[in-house]
Amino acid sequence: MDSAEQDEPLYRQLAQRLWENVEGAAMNEGERLPSVRTLAAQHGVSLTTALQALRWLETRGHIEARPRSGYFVAKRTRRGKRAGGQSEPKSGAPKRWARPAAEVDAQARDHLAIAGAPTAVRLDLASAEAALYPIERFSVLLRRLAYQHRDLVGSHVRGSGYPALRAQIARQAMQYACELDPDELVVTNGCVEALNLALRAVARPGDTIAVESPTYFVLLQILRALEMPAYPIPCRPQSGIDVDALKQALDRGVPIKAVVTVANGNNPLGSVPSDASKRALVELLRERDVVLIEDDIFGDLCFGETRPRPVRAFDDTHGNVLLCGGFSKSLSPGLRLGWIAPGRFTERVKALKFTASMATAELQQAAVAQLLAGGGYALHLRRLKAALLSQQEALRQAVLRYFPAGTEVTRPAGGFVLWAKLPSGDGPPRSTRDLFERARAEGISFAPGHLFGEGGAFDDCLRLNAGNRWTSELDAAVRRLGELAA
Ligand SMILES: Cc1ncc(COP(=O)(O)O)c(C=O)c1O
Repeated sequence: MDSAEQDEPLYRQLAQRLWENVEGAAMNEGERLPSVRTLAAQHGVSLTTALQALRWLETRGHIEARPRSGYFVAKRTRRGKRAGGQSEPKSGAPKRWARPAAEVDAQARDHLAIAGAPTAVRLDLASAEAALYPIERFSVLLRRLAYQHRDLVGSHVRGSGYPALRAQIARQAMQYACELDPDELVVTNGCVEALNLALRAVARPGDTIAVESPTYFVLLQILRALEMPAYPIPCRPQSGIDVDALKQALDRGVPIKAVVTVANGNNPLGSVPSDASKRALVELLRERDVVLIEDDIFGDLCFGETRPRPVRAFDDTHGNVLLCGGFSKSLSPGLRLGWIAPGRFTERVKALKFTASMATAELQQAAVAQLLAGGGYALHLRRLKAALLSQQEALRQAVLRYFPAGTEVTRPAGGFVLWAKLPSGDGPPRSTRDLFERARAEGISFAPGHLFGEGGAFDDCLRLNAGNRWTSELDAAVRRLGELAA
């Protein structure tokens, strides 16, 4: 074993040995691996380490789990086939997979682990459980619309989106004093497509984009994919993006091309800035000729008396803010419906939408348009927000009870998630990366802090989703997490 290998955690060493055995024995696709218990006994390790090793191989696509049956050698297509259809050569093969492929960094890997492999206790994604969404209503609407309006699936779709949905989005925005023109709106495949289009419309590879720190991890990965360096601006749990820090960066000559803000209900902090701060942000950026991209996907899920206005509402020139939104958080993530109001970049965004995905399927757009027109949306939101508030409080209390003394937890002004910071004590700061792997090996998933910043920032933090109804199982999972964190 070389010294680099000795630095590897035990479970990775075991994973590597295990895979060498699989290759050495020329096991075929679909063949069953020894059980966790057998592996632990054979290799003299704990059950947790054996399970971690298997999960590690699973996240690499080498093996797959089958419920209640165990782990099996994955299909070769998942593991990556070599040109000419040969299998990977035995010598050196484990080294190749043991090190991360250059294009998949640690953040992308952990994100894929969260998104791709469901675990028993899901404290990871920012989402509510299905029972809190109007799934039954959608099921009826979708069936009825598909039957009565065959053209919704049978004819060509419009690039900008279904007109009745665009009208409803503009009508909703009027209620919080944000003027949107239905002709400006482009419906997208989720808010993530809206963010991609916005960035591509205003910047090119190499352009610096200022982001809140911490921020939504997919945004950081989008920027990496678009080769646009991210410049972090501190974001505060109570007041959101630090406009003074942004001003200082601009004064120092940082070549910021655009700023991305998740102003209402920042993910992961749940912050909402004051109207004065939103106005100051708009004015600063207008003065410096910097574009603002605003992600307002959590706007409808803020808990205050009145729905907070997006920053875009303070931009009276109606041009400098590209406002992105969507229904993945408020109505259901599976709809994959987002939208963008691109201001003065509307024509560019419309052209880019054609090259990105041509259009968004209209059937679910029609269903959402009907639901919004029917007037039940406000009541649904009231119920969802009430559930989120009480679930967040239960989760918060559990974290304070079970996590190491000195753990700090946010009290968000909106959204699904809590952000917790572990105490450092006298030793070095704790890392939630190890905690992530150990907790997943026990079937508990959360979002580790390093995903939300650059260069290892927030490694001592974790994001917990409060979208699930509070149960004794959840309480036990948080207690276990607290034990592992200690
Ligand atoms: C700030 C933010 N924007 C966008 C998204 C994703 O939106 P969609 O699922 O509609 O693509 C998320 C999901 O967590 C988010 O937190």
